[in-house]
Amino acid sequence: MKKLFFGALVLGFMSACTSDNISNQEDISQDPGNPSSTMASKRACPSDIIREKALKSDPALRARFEANELQSEKFSRDIMMGKVLADGTVEIPVVFNVIYNTSTQNISDARIAEQIAVLNADYGATNSDVANIPSAFQPAAAGDVKIRFKLVTTNRKQYTKTGWRSDLEEMKKSTTGGINATDPTKNLNIWVVNSILDENSQPGTLGYAYYPESAGLWYDGLVIGYQYIGKTGASAPFNLGRTVTHEVGHYLNLPHLWGSSNTGCQTDYSNDTPTSPGPNYGTPSYPLNRVCGGVSRSQMFMNYMDYVDDKAMFMFSANQKTRMQAVVAAAGPRAGLR
Ligand code: ARG
Ligand code: ZN
Ligand code: CA
Repeated sequence: MKKLFFGALVLGFMSACTSDNISNQEDISQDPGNPSSTMASKRACPSDIIREKALKSDPALRARFEANELQSEKFSRDIMMGKVLADGTVEIPVVFNVIYNTSTQNISDARIAEQIAVLNADYGATNSDVANIPSAFQPAAAGDVKIRFKLVTTNRKQYTKTGWRSDLEEMKKSTTGGINATDPTKNLNIWVVNSILDENSQPGTLGYAYYPESAGLWYDGLVIGYQYIGKTGASAPFNLGRTVTHEVGHYLNLPHLWGSSNTGCQTDYSNDTPTSPGPNYGTPSYPLNRVCGGVSRSQMFMNYMDYVDDKAMFMFSANQKTRMQAVVAAAGPRAGLR
C-alpha cells in the first residue's frame, strides 16, 4: 500500500547510490590507471544530507518517514513471526474446531495434519497431479500461489446434535452447542461437523465458506463435513482433501468457474478460466466443450473451483492466484491473517 510504496522508494533511492559506489570501486581496482578513478573515489552519496535537511524543515515529510520506519519494523516482525515468509509467501494460521457426536466423527490429529499438507501442496502447486494439466491450460496455470497454511490449534467438543443447518450457524456459537471462532481477523477457522443441512434440514453439501466481505465476523471461515477432511478414512470420491482446497478458494475471493449464480455463463473475474455454463461432476476427460453465449470452449473442469471429484481437480489459474494474493496483501481485506 501507500506506506510500502514510499518505503520502497526510499530504499530504492539509497541502494541506487550504494551500488553506484561499489561498481566504481570495482572499476578502480580493475583499472588503476583510469583518469576518472580519482574523481570516483572522492564521490559521495548526498542522499542523506539532502534528506536530513528536508526532514528538519518539513514536518509532513518527517511524519511520512516515521510511518515508513514503523511499517518496515512491522514487516520484519511479521517475517520473524513466520507469517510472511522471506519470499513474500503468506502463511495463514488455521484453527480447527471439531464438533462431534460419535467418536468416528471426532477426526484424528493425523487427518487434520493430512489436510494441512494437502492445502500446502495444492496452494504451492507441489501436488503430484499438477502434471495432469492439459498442455492447452499450462500457460494459464498459477504455479505457486505463495500462500501456505499452518495449524495453530485444534478445539474439540462433543455434542448430541446430528445435523447442523448452514443458515443458522449454530456450530459457531458455544451457546448453541458449537465452538466460538478463535479471533477470525487473524485465523482461518474451520468447523468440522457430522452433517451439514440446508434451510429445509436437507443434506447435500460437502462444505461451505465465507467470502472476504465477511472477514473477521463471528461466522467467518469454513464448515466441512468430517468425511471430507484429509485422506485416511475420508469418503471417496472426496477423499483427497480438496473440499477444503475449494472452500479456501471462496474464502480468498474465488467464485465458481460459472460465476456466483446458478444461471451460469457469468463472470468469475478471471480472464484465464473459460466461461462456463455450470458445474462439472465426476471425472471428465479433456477436452470437454461447453457453450456460453454461442461460443463452445473446452472447460477448465480440473480447476479447484469446479465440482468434479477430488482426483479430477488439480489447478488454480494465474488470474485466480492474483485475486487470492490481493485478499491477503497488506492492504487487502484479509491482511489480518498475515
Ligand atoms: N461445496 C461444494 C460441494 O458441496 C464443494 C465441492 C468440493 N469439491 C470436491 N471435489 N471436493 O459440492
Ligand atoms: Zn463452492
Ligand atoms: Ca473466466
